[in-house]
Amino acid sequence: MTAFSLPVITERLVLRLFTTHDLGDLYAYQSLPDVARFLYRPPLTREQCAEKLAQRAAGTAWAEDGDSLTIAVCQGDEESVVGEVVLKLASASARQAEIGWVFNPAHGGRGYATEAARAAASLAFTELGVHRLFARLDVLNTGSVRVCERLGMRREAHLVENDLDGERWGSEYVYASLAREWKDGRG
Ligand SMILES: CC(C)(COP(=O)(O)OP(=O)(O)OC[C@H]1O[C@@H](n2cnc3c(N)ncnc32)[C@H](O)[C@@H]1OP(=O)(O)O)[C@@H](O)C(=O)NCCC(=O)NCCS
Repeated sequence: MTAFSLPVITERLVLRLFTTHDLGDLYAYQSLPDVARFLYRPPLTREQCAEKLAQRAAGTAWAEDGDSLTIAVCQGDEESVVGEVVLKLASASARQAEIGWVFNPAHGGRGYATEAARAAASLAFTELGVHRLFARLDVLNTGSVRVCERLGMRREAHLVENDLDGERWGSEYVYASLAREWKDGRG
């Protein structure tokens, strides 16, 4: 298993592992239809949030394809969670990982998602040995597009109607950064 150091402290945020005490905060944003709009699944019930927390508390392995690390994001020294960043190991052998983020809109528009994603990307490149970090997002998800662009990720692909979101054909962008780009300050 690859070692990583959490918590990570940024200018305004603390990134740490989730605990079962975070159920109320997680449910507060994961239950919102607006938050789930581009996640290609319905909002989560309280029971589903509890299951996710149990999985997250148990699973911090980073060795095999599909392993993932979901990081809780808190403001400063406050315990409450304002959002999450997830890193998922897409290919252990090729050191490819996917990054994603979900934030409570009550804390939106302050740059928290960008600040947390930047810290998680640094963790991925420096501690988890990731070679290429990518994000997939619905082309209509303009907030996420802006997060990727603020991070300096390159738009690599525009997949057209590659997925079904209920009755709607979804199209996606793929954004990515390589470790050397990140280290050169392009990330
Ligand atoms: C995607 C998502 C995280 C974006 O949230 P967000 O609030 O726009 O992103 P940030 O927290 O990085 O905030 C950025 C905004 O804060 C502003 N801002 C204010 N103060 C700032 C500061 N000190 N530093 C940086 N940005 C600041 C920025 O200008 C930016 O506004 P703009 O996009 O209008 O230009 C959020 O919409 C979300 O969780 N959506 C639902 C889940 C989802 O779709 N996830 C992605 C699946 S691929």
